[in-house]
Amino acid sequence: MKTVELTSKIIVYEDRSEVPVELMTLIAQAEEAARRAYAPYSRFQVGAAVLMNNGKVVTGCNQENAVFPAGLCAERTAAFAASAQYPEVPFSKIAITAINPVEVLKQPVSPCGSCRQVLFEYESKFNQPIEVILAGQEGPVYHFRCVSDLLPYTFHAGFLP
Ligand code: THU
Repeated sequence: MKTVELTSKIIVYEDRSEVPVELMTLIAQAEEAARRAYAPYSRFQVGAAVLMNNGKVVTGCNQENAVFPAGLCAERTAAFAASAQYPEVPFSKIAITAINPVEVLKQPVSPCGSCRQVLFEYESKFNQPIEVILAGQEGPVYHFRCVSDLLPYTFHAGFLP
């Protein structure tokens, strides 16, 4: 028997003035996307902006549905749109943020497990880490080096026959 300890390095920017301009620009694009969310049921607006290796930015926002499970998160909306438009271009970074209409979100929003799994697919497809930047409306910004830091022991294509 042995114990395995997992560690991951996260850059935490407590003050937004410390965040590199390139990351703040991507967060601003995610925020713009969040404003376009279709979220009549939860009213929680999420936006994501994917920076591709070719410099293009593809955004997405959550799309809800009266049949609740038929809706889709912002991250997957953005990732699928990016892959559909530029199937051969790796993702460099993704910024994710959200707007809570009831109470200002003071902590970084966290992508759900399904979105982490989907982002991991593109990370492994291109064998290139996708940096993940998480922000709330205010407060700290988290910068992860790669998706696998957010989803260790991931299910991947190597398991399939
Ligand atoms: N949502 C996202 O779009 N991304 C996340 O990271 C968390 C949750 C959406 C799904 C649903 O439309 C709403 O937020 C409430 O869960």
